[in-house]
Amino acid sequence: MIFTDACKGKKTPYTPVWIMRQAGRYLPEYMEVRKKAGNFLNLCHTPELAAEVTLQPVDIVGVDAAIMFSDILVVPNEMGMKLDFVKGEGPVFEKPVKTKDDIDGLLGDKEAADKLTYVYETIKIAREKLSDEKALIGFTGAPWTLATYMVEGQGTKTYNIVKKLIYTDPKLMHYLLQKVSDVVKYYLENQIKSGVNVVQIFDSWAAALEKSAYMEFSWRYIKDICSYIKSKYPEIPIIVFPKGIGTYLDDIDGDFDVFGVDWGTPMSLAKEKLGDRYILQGNMEPCRLYSKEATKECVMSIADTMKDGRHIFNLGHGILPDVSVENAKFFVSLVKEVTKR
Ligand code: CP3
Repeated sequence: MIFTDACKGKKTPYTPVWIMRQAGRYLPEYMEVRKKAGNFLNLCHTPELAAEVTLQPVDIVGVDAAIMFSDILVVPNEMGMKLDFVKGEGPVFEKPVKTKDDIDGLLGDKEAADKLTYVYETIKIAREKLSDEKALIGFTGAPWTLATYMVEGQGTKTYNIVKKLIYTDPKLMHYLLQKVSDVVKYYLENQIKSGVNVVQIFDSWAAALEKSAYMEFSWRYIKDICSYIKSKYPEIPIIVFPKGIGTYLDDIDGDFDVFGVDWGTPMSLAKEKLGDRYILQGNMEPCRLYSKEATKECVMSIADTMKDGRHIFNLGHGILPDVSVENAKFFVSLVKEVTKR
């Protein structure tokens, strides 16, 4: 499997490529299936349909890995927080977490993780239908990113509610983060048992925190989850994607295989700081996909920086819904062509 080989630092015939958020609204075929499901959450809850959209980007765009179709927020949802996706506003939790009693009222550990049966079923169906050459990626949100949504109740520009908690009652924040981490460990473990070949931890809100706070409230939990998974499943590659922490790279270590580089961090800097220890993933600015010229310029530049290998091609964050499928295909085939060895 070229993708897992690359995650482990083995030589591959070309640099494998996939796209964060590759199963989504830019694909007309995805919109068709979502319509059939009624809405996004129903789609996540219907394994046959979720498996179908998981496989679409492999067939249509030609990526080397599928990522199971779900959302990071199904975890707090199954812990007991009512979740809604409001048009134009994104995800919203009806009753955000405020007190220790609120946290104690949520399900934890295996009890919460075992409720995500529809995710495990999606994995089983998708893995069975996927060609042996292609990897299936499982994922979770990092405890910090999940807890941010749980405390804020929705996306935020200032993070003021969750940061107020960090600086006024750090113990309570750690209490929540520990509870979420424990669920996430079992969640990833169940995904691996169901058939995923690789797991990725998305820390989308990493950049909200100053360095010392990031290390204390996010990175240590990510490291702890990685150590847990590695101790039980050493053969499963782990990808971490803390978005926007390019200036903290000197302090990054841990038991994972691949570091996802966001588009704001120069690949050459990531290579200098982490390239000897980790395989790097990324990092084209997603908006370059609006233009073939801009895509080509960036692919050539990243391919040149990473010409010695130890690289997985991707965007530096998720693909946007108004990108043309043709340009996404162009990106994938160009990567395969220019990195051929
Ligand atoms: O293809 C894939 O990458 C797999 C599927 C996937 C989704 N969400 C599907 C989705 C993955 C890996 C995620 C992760 C996710 N979800 C993250 C971390 C990654 C990142 O982009 O930083 C975050 C922060 C979320 C939370 C979330 N889910 C938001 C903010 C939104 C709304 C975004 C929007 O543009 O409306 C979602 C909904 C969501 N998750 C969609 C998809 C395809 C769009 C739903 C739809 O309308 O069909």
